Amino acid sequence: MNSNKNIEIVVVKDAKEGGKKAFELVKQSLEDGMKVIGLPTGSTPETMYAELRNSDLDFSNVTAINLDEYIGLPADHEQSYAHFMKEELYDTKPFKETHIPDGLASEEEETARYNKVIEDNPIDLQILGIGTNAHLGFNEPGSSFDSLTEKVELTEDTIEANKRFFESADEVPRYAYSMGLASIMSADKILLLAYGENKAEAIANAVNGPVTEEVPASILQKHKDVVFIIDEDAASKL
Ligand code: GLP
Repeated sequence: MNSNKNIEIVVVKDAKEGGKKAFELVKQSLEDGMKVIGLPTGSTPETMYAELRNSDLDFSNVTAINLDEYIGLPADHEQSYAHFMKEELYDTKPFKETHIPDGLASEEEETARYNKVIEDNPIDLQILGIGTNAHLGFNEPGSSFDSLTEKVELTEDTIEANKRFFESADEVPRYAYSMGLASIMSADKILLLAYGENKAEAIANAVNGPVTEEVPASILQKHKDVVFIIDEDAASKL
């Protein structure tokens, strides 16, 4: 099924089982001395966050670095990723430090600041979701594989996919700050989660397609230690 030898694929029944498997991997990383974890937002990691919240895992010596944030939303906005992370994890589990881009800060200052955060805290385990167009974080198709934290413009596909959280597509911010693909690739280990038929094509392209900037997740074929935890629907085109 998987012709790419670098990417280990774990197929699970559904998002619930995926959350449990992801939890086990995070637990193992903690036992192995993980100091920095990179975290995603979106619906996909919610089952993993539920497992983490309900566990006795201790993150008080771990620094968390989030992938991205919408530009223009204050941290207390209901749809900001800062708000999402508080609800999903940070209000329940104390971390040593948590970092997320500031959606109200100026581009020059915020990209420099966030790159310094990543440089000062090398990521042991980076957890990712994937967009239906194979974006990682908010690195949309066409993003440079060399990118660091940048201001990015959301594609129509992404606005369409994310409008379910807003009153209408018009409310979805058009820009975001996103950790770059080079920063993601600098992590020691990468775990990507994907569930549902609408992710099947992105997964197939990422795993078996050519490595091209048109498919941001295809860069993962070049990483030394990547695991995909995906459900049967997301695996259906492999
Ligand atoms: C969002 C986020 C990504 C996320 C992806 C999938 O736009 N920026 O980090 O992985 O889209 O989201 P979901 O898990 O809700 O399908």
